[in-house]
Amino acid sequence: MEPHRILLAISGGIAAYKAPELVRTLKRDGHEVRCMLTPEAERFVSPLSLQAVSGESVRRDLFDPGEEGEIDHIGLADWADLVLVAPATANLLAKMAHGLANDLVSAVLLATRAPILVAPAMNVNMWSHPATQANLETLRARGVATIGPEAGELACGWEGLGRMSDPAVVAEAAAGLLVPSSLEGLRVLVTAGGTAEPIDAVRSLTNRSSGKMGFAIAAEAARRGARVTLVAGVTSLPTPHGVDRVDVRSALEMREAVLAAFEDSAIVVKAAAVADFRPVDASDRKIKKEQLAEGERMTLELVQNPDILQEISARKGDRTIVGFAAESHDVVAAAQRKLARKGCDLIVANDISRADAGFEVDENAVLFVWPSGEVEELPLLPKTGVAAQLFDRIEKLRERR
Ligand SMILES: Cc1cc2nc3c(=O)[nH]c(=O)nc-3n(C[C@H](O)[C@H](O)[C@H](O)COP(=O)(O)O)c2cc1C
Repeated sequence: MEPHRILLAISGGIAAYKAPELVRTLKRDGHEVRCMLTPEAERFVSPLSLQAVSGESVRRDLFDPGEEGEIDHIGLADWADLVLVAPATANLLAKMAHGLANDLVSAVLLATRAPILVAPAMNVNMWSHPATQANLETLRARGVATIGPEAGELACGWEGLGRMSDPAVVAEAAAGLLVPSSLEGLRVLVTAGGTAEPIDAVRSLTNRSSGKMGFAIAAEAARRGARVTLVAGVTSLPTPHGVDRVDVRSALEMREAVLAAFEDSAIVVKAAAVADFRPVDASDRKIKKEQLAEGERMTLELVQNPDILQEISARKGDRTIVGFAAESHDVVAAAQRKLARKGCDLIVANDISRADAGFEVDENAVLFVWPSGEVEELPLLPKTGVAAQLFDRIEKLRERR
């Protein structure tokens, strides 16, 4: 693989002793490596060893005029193609999740636009604490990648999850993130999440889409250098790094936002779960229980929503348009019918009857259904992995044209 510039951030855990080995592994793979340490990390690994193995001076102090003069912290943040945090302490993960920047490492992590990979290492109880898990969830939703920890005997004497992954494994995960800026200069439009169709002032019809798949797609497009507009329906996810977000609620609002961004977009991925129907008349007041007699039934009349995917596919030009299909049965046949009806370039089909994939979870097992009739079945992958596979296919498709 082509050489990259990797900035290794080391925080204050026992596993910091693995950092020099990690530097050597990355250097052997041909990368340029610079190291920065938290003040606590210096208690566990010597800056001198890191300087010797990296062949670069090591940065440790945000306020040292000498260090800032050599390469200032923003320069360091911009220099990196990837920032690798190994080991990542519980403390540093918490700081990253909350945007703290009170030392060199946390300030650089906040300032960088490069992808970030963290390799956590800590006591098993620190790892499983809801605070740590919530911080990780926040970071992952923002597009930060993680590797490990692994289970085993821990330096603190406990057994369980908490060991930092081996340097070779961390280096391999880093290589997986060093993607070329293959979408540079292109605008990518992504939709994500479910819609909510108003019934009255407080109620709506919605669905179980979490938005995780679409957000992972937006993050991947941004990682590959695209300018990304993410039209987000109902979801509580944070905005991925480097992505422009437009929030909408109903299918009609989503249609408007999609059409507004469509003209300038070269690639459109419609991963949102848009409601097919909406209530005919949404009351602007709350419908009261007393409006009905005891035991009386109420009928909600629905009308079809416009089909956004079909509408934009009809005006496709030389854009690449990808649709998603969530199906509970006859997945392939249903996706093939959808592809023929809508006229898009590819349908990504989910089998939502699986408990381990699809709605709400972090993993997905999808099928790529092509206009040629070809069906590609992907294994169960993290949604970030599905997003990467999807853009690999989209890029090939565009190269062939
Ligand atoms: C001997 C020792 C080992 C430690 N190992 C870890 C560890 O593996 N993981 C961790 O999250 N914290 C560990 N800590 C606690 C961190 O050093 C402490 O939270 C520190 O403030 C982290 O600072 P930093 O995140 O800025 O590097 C350890 C502390 C001691 C004294």
